[in-house]
Amino acid sequence: MKTIALHNPGPEYRLELASAAMPTPGDDEVLIRVAAAGVNRADILQARGAYPPPAGASETLGLEVSGHVAALGRNVTIFKTGDAVCALLAGGGYGEYALAHGGAVLAVPPGLDVADAAALPEALFTAWTNVIDTGRLMPNETLLIHGGTSGIGVAAIQMFARLGFRVFATAGSDEKCRLCETLGAQSAINYRTEDFVAATREHTGKGVDVILDMVGGGYVQRNMAAAAPSGRIVNIAYQDGAKVGLDLGVLLRKRLTLAATTLRGRSVLEKQAIRDALAKNVWPLVEAGRIKPVVDSRFPLGEAQAAHRRMTAGGHAGKILLTVA
Ligand SMILES: NC(=O)c1ccc[n+]([C@@H]2O[C@H](COP(=O)([O-])OP(=O)(O)OC[C@H]3O[C@@H](n4cnc5c(N)ncnc54)[C@H](OP(=O)(O)O)[C@@H]3O)[C@@H](O)[C@H]2O)c1
Repeated sequence: MKTIALHNPGPEYRLELASAAMPTPGDDEVLIRVAAAGVNRADILQARGAYPPPAGASETLGLEVSGHVAALGRNVTIFKTGDAVCALLAGGGYGEYALAHGGAVLAVPPGLDVADAAALPEALFTAWTNVIDTGRLMPNETLLIHGGTSGIGVAAIQMFARLGFRVFATAGSDEKCRLCETLGAQSAINYRTEDFVAATREHTGKGVDVILDMVGGGYVQRNMAAAAPSGRIVNIAYQDGAKVGLDLGVLLRKRLTLAATTLRGRSVLEKQAIRDALAKNVWPLVEAGRIKPVVDSRFPLGEAQAAHRRMTAGGHAGKILLTVA
């Protein structure tokens, strides 16, 4: 089968088409004939040598795919060959076939383009577990999502807005802010021209209850200023730096929680619990067309390097996909 090989990992990495042996599913796995793979910022970090795959995961890039079930391990009984599915992977998505653990697979509903469904798993799994499990977002609370038009943000805004929460978002241009509002954000803040601390205070009166942050750096202190008393701040990345000087007095005074998590290295049981929560609480909204993939661009698998260049340039809004003919 065709796959994408990573050459010269580091700042000058190259992604090229290569041949690989067809994977065989283990007892708990599903072999998926890939229609599309989502491109994630983590793939770029891995290609640069800064984010090694967890023990046991494929060395091939790719954290999510959609496609059709090609073969099943004997313990996977909820799918059958030919079913349209999408899946979260620990690696190995950039190829014609990919292996997923059965507990991280969801059915693609009729009416949803199978390839476009590759835009959903990583974003929905990440946003759900960080905002609900770690952030403990409760009914009638407010949520601020930084990076509103990131691959994560476009799905997270829709999910929490459709679930009835008041969602605020930040993005780096007025056009990106309008997209956030179209997706369901009550208000989006252009972080280049507005102060999100002042803007969210003005909208909420007391600050926001939960903040999902991927920026870090100077945002860590400013998030504490933007949070409501007893607020929870959850970081999924520190793109602007993980080493910061902080005045933690505000943490005490406002009884805040600072947390950070990664998804990739979690056990299959933890991922299955997130999949089950999504299937129950969120998938009916996907089936009803109320949460939709937001696709920035599609590149053929062999142009994975160009897809990475598009993400690195930063002009994208939504998911970049690699499609397999
Ligand atoms: N912890 C986890 O388990 C986990 C899982 C998945 C993803 N992630 C992380 O989540 C982030 C998003 O992933 P992705 O694949 O969706 O990437 P992406 O589409 O490339 O999004 C990156 C986002 O970061 C925003 N950004 C960068 N610097 C910023 C700054 N200084 N201020 C405000 N916003 C800034 C960009 O906003 P503008 O374009 O508006 O400038 C953009 O929306 C990545 O950092 C990724 O590593 C973590």
